Amino acid sequence: QTLSAAANAVRDAETVAALTGAGVSTASGIPDFRSEDGLWNEYDPNDFHMSRFRADPAGFWRDRVELIADLFGDGVEPNAAHEALADLEAAGHLNTLITQNVDGLHQAAGSDDPIEIHGNGRRAACTGCNRRIDIDEAVQRVTAGEAPPTCERCGDVLKPDVVLFGEQLPKHDLMRAQSAAREADVFLAVGSSLTVEPAASLPRHTVDNGGQLVVVNLDRTEQSKRADFDLRADVTEALPRLTETVLEE
Ligand code: OAD
Ligand code: ZN
Repeated sequence: QTLSAAANAVRDAETVAALTGAGVSTASGIPDFRSEDGLWNEYDPNDFHMSRFRADPAGFWRDRVELIADLFGDGVEPNAAHEALADLEAAGHLNTLITQNVDGLHQAAGSDDPIEIHGNGRRAACTGCNRRIDIDEAVQRVTAGEAPPTCERCGDVLKPDVVLFGEQLPKHDLMRAQSAAREADVFLAVGSSLTVEPAASLPRHTVDNGGQLVVVNLDRTEQSKRADFDLRADVTEALPRLTETVLEE
């Protein structure tokens, strides 16, 4: 009923945008942030602040190598939710995929060019010239005693290529995401508590412009009150069914 109505809205839309959060990757073994067994239960968010990195980049790297290996190590694979979104896109029913996740699993599932507004944790980037290297290489260098690892081109400190608290989002990516949201007839918000700005406000751009909002999440979200369809469901179950229903006719 609600799911098929949401699927009808997606099918009838000329332009669809989607925003994903940590909830699409929990089934791949990556914890989310705000659930009971989420990362903020084990870690202090303040330790993920830009001021903390600036004050002690060596310590920041040393404290992070284990977590990075856990999150992005071998055997972390996309799940049915990532695949359903890639299928929706391949069928021409998803125009822009925006993600808050830094795990690269949308690309691994075949999504073409997701907008990663919080960066990508599989890379490290130079804080001076923005040259990027593989996170594995940076981790190896830290483990071998080079903390913080520095840029081979300009000598500046490398940082995991993710947006830390207190740091600006990449401007161009945010603008692309906002204009995709404004242009969308339907906005799909999936697996996110929609609590962290400015990502949390993206659905509003669609709604304010007369478009419809579909939320798929286990728990109620901060934007559920604005949703035309508020589906409380597991994304690995609901998204494949949604894609299947959209493609039925
Ligand atoms: P949250 O942890 O805030 O929200 C994840 C949501 O996904 C929760 O509401 C869960 O109930 C839901 N969820 C978990 N598994 C699910 C499943 N299998 N099916 C459906 N829902 C499920 O994570 P985000 O909203 O992504 O920022 O967090 C946003 C930002 O907060 C992150 O990008 C990160 C963090 O600070 C940065 O790294 C800059
Ligand atoms: Zn550099």
